[in-house]
Amino acid sequence: MSRPIGIFDSGVGGLTVLKALRARLPHCDFVYLGDTARVPYGRKPKEMVRGFASEIAWFLEQLDVACIVVACNTASACALPGLADEVSVPVWGVIEPGIEAARRATITGRVGVIGTKGTIASGVYQRGLQAAGLEVWAQACPMFVHLVEEGLADSEDADVLARHYLKGRGDIDTLILGCTHYPVLAPVIQRVVGGGVKLVSSAEVTAEVVCAAVGGDAPDGQGRVTHYVTGGVPAYQHTAEVIGGVEGKVIPLDVNRLADAGVSVRANRAAI
Ligand code: DGL
Repeated sequence: MSRPIGIFDSGVGGLTVLKALRARLPHCDFVYLGDTARVPYGRKPKEMVRGFASEIAWFLEQLDVACIVVACNTASACALPGLADEVSVPVWGVIEPGIEAARRATITGRVGVIGTKGTIASGVYQRGLQAAGLEVWAQACPMFVHLVEEGLADSEDADVLARHYLKGRGDIDTLILGCTHYPVLAPVIQRVVGGGVKLVSSAEVTAEVVCAAVGGDAPDGQGRVTHYVTGGVPAYQHTAEVIGGVEGKVIPLDVNRLADAGVSVRANRAAI
């Protein structure tokens, strides 16, 4: 595939999905957009997050991406499926893959899901899991994204917060990390819930779905990644260390350019 795959998140969390995608599609180029000037999305109103997602999708479309992966549960919950009608390329989110990962992992049918306030309040996971015949316990963990963005994933604070958020989980056997930042907290979460609970995230199944759609696995390759970040580049590079660091060029992006992409697309549509 000659055009890059576009992928975005509010911050570094989507790099967990990028990693899984690159493992399956090493020959593909990727454009990753981390909207670090506006992180976190999880506490913002749904309409605002939907607007951010549209602007980013339009910006990526202008970069001539072949498809877009919304590597953010909050944006997936707020903006999908409508976002798919706003651009001319295929769009995938991470929530259906997360549900599928849990469905494959659970034996007892009792599943937990943790995510941002926006994701949990949307009820998208709960509805999807119940429709799959599973019992659901859901909990918002608003402080988790800050821990990851601040490089505190392995701190005592992370341990205290994980105990606090997870205390009502009951006898689940599977826990969905329903925010792409949370795989970074997997060691502390696993310590708290114990070895009997399987932790699953969307990354692998999302990569599986995208890979099948764009033409299957390739054994090797030299695909490149270009990162655009709306916040500071050094801070992004530093935070990304917890996910194995950033490979490829990192380009600072004035957040107003995203808003401009939105204005020009809206104006063109109005003129049609
Ligand atoms: N990583 C994101 C998610 O999956 C967003 C976290 C945030 O910005 O609050 O929901």
